[in-house]
Amino acid sequence: MAKDLISIKDLTPSEIKEIFSLTDQLKRNKGKFSKELAGKTLALIFQKPSNRTRVSFEVGMFQLGGNSLYLAPNEINLGVRESIADVAKTLSRYIDGIVLRTFEHKNCIEMARAASVPVINGLTDFSHPCQALADLYTIKEKLGNFKDLTLAYVGDGNNVCNSLLFACAKLGVNVNLGCPKGYEPDSEVLKDSRSMAKMNDANINLYNNAFDAAKGADVIYTDVWVSMGQEKEADVRKQAFQGFQINSELVKLANKGAIIMHCLPAHRNEEITNEVMDGKNSAIFDQAENRMHVQKAILIELLGS
Ligand code: CP
Ligand code: NVA
Repeated sequence: MAKDLISIKDLTPSEIKEIFSLTDQLKRNKGKFSKELAGKTLALIFQKPSNRTRVSFEVGMFQLGGNSLYLAPNEINLGVRESIADVAKTLSRYIDGIVLRTFEHKNCIEMARAASVPVINGLTDFSHPCQALADLYTIKEKLGNFKDLTLAYVGDGNNVCNSLLFACAKLGVNVNLGCPKGYEPDSEVLKDSRSMAKMNDANINLYNNAFDAAKGADVIYTDVWVSMGQEKEADVRKQAFQGFQINSELVKLANKGAIIMHCLPAHRNEEITNEVMDGKNSAIFDQAENRMHVQKAILIELLGS
C-alpha cells in the first residue's frame, strides 16, 4: 500500500481485499495482534465532531498495543496557529501516524505530502475512505460476496457517497444512486467510478428519485441530508430531500433480505425511519462495529513494521 490513505481511488482491488482478509483475522483473533503496534503513537487531529471515527481509532490503537493522542480543533488550530505543513513536519518527529478529520480535502493532501509518517483521511468534505472500507467489509460479511450485488444509495451525493462509489466500483458492486436534482455526487467522481466499475463488470446508474434506485437492490444505504459544516443550508436541504427517506415502503421495492446501511450519526425519522433503522434487516450497528476492525487492519498495513 502507499504511505497514506487519502482516497479509495488510490487503492487497488487487491489492496482492498488484503485489508479485508487482515480484518477477518483481527476480528476472529484479537489476542494475536495485541503487540502489533507496541510503542507506536497515532495522533488524531479532528476539526469536526466524531463518535465512531475517534473512538474506533483510539480503541483500535490500544488493542494493537499502541497509544493515541486526540488533538481537538482549538488545540492545534490547524492552518491558523501554524501552517498545515509545519504541523505535519513537527508531528512526524514525535508520532507514527496521523488521522485527520477536516473540511477541505486539499488540507488532507497537503498534510500527507508534508508528513513523513502515514496520514489517514478520517473524513473530509469530499470523502470518507475508512467508512467505505468498513461498509464494503460489512456487505461481504452479511451477503457472502460482491458478485452481482446492487447497492442503492439514496440521499445526498456527499463525502460518504463519493467514497462508496469508488469502493463499489473497485470491487465490482453495482450502484443505483437516488439523489435529488442538484445533490448528485461530484461529476468527476461519477466519471471516474463509472470507468472503474466498467473494468470490474459493474454499472453505476443515476436516478433523481428514490424508487428507481431502490428497485431490485441488495443493500439500501443512506446518510444525513445535512452534513457537518452545512448547517446553514438545513432548511433548503430538508425541503429538497423530501421523498428520499428510507422507510418501509421504499424497502419493499428492494430484493428480499436486502440489508439497510447508514454510516451514522443518523437523524432518525428524517432520512431514515426508526422502524427501518431498528428493523431486522438493519446492518447499521454491525457496520459501526466494523469501523474498528477494518481500521485496525489499516493501522497495521500503514504503521506496522
Ligand atoms: N460515521 C462516522 O464517521 O461517524 P463519526 O462522525 O461519529 O465519526
Ligand atoms: N456526511 C456526513 C458523514 C458523517 C460521518 C458528514 O460529513 O457530516
